[in-house]
Amino acid sequence: MKIAIGSDHGGLTLKTVVLALLQELGYEGEDVGCFAADSVDYPQYADLVCEKVAKGQADKGILICGTGIGMSMAANKHATIRAALCSEQYTARMSREHNDANVLCMGERVTGPGIAEEIVRTWLSTPFAGGRHLRRINLFN
Ligand code: RB5
Repeated sequence: MKIAIGSDHGGLTLKTVVLALLQELGYEGEDVGCFAADSVDYPQYADLVCEKVAKGQADKGILICGTGIGMSMAANKHATIRAALCSEQYTARMSREHNDANVLCMGERVTGPGIAEEIVRTWLSTPFAGGRHLRRINLFN
């Protein structure tokens, strides 16, 4: 499974942690940037990841900025993207089970690396429950 991952400068360090975890778990992680600590604009990286997911060039996406808020706002502007901002495991699981989230957002200044790893493990391994939840996400837009 291919995971597109992007961050701004505020999420760069946590992104390296998540990339290492993806490799350990056997996922193919594609890093779209940023690649340095210089200040950049997070919507550009949200768009790169979301376009890959929307076009089927990646199965899911992960976006990390300082809080995760800007990334989730930018990602949810894309019609077929359901981005979930998660800072603990429960919402990570429910965002997959009930919302079929296809992009996970996290904030490096909010969520430490250990919790972030738990979130990613849970989010990637939890299937969508379908049924009434499919009806509900089909009501979006
Ligand atoms: C960058 O300073 C910060 O605004 C960004 O990483 C993010 O937290 C925005 O939502």
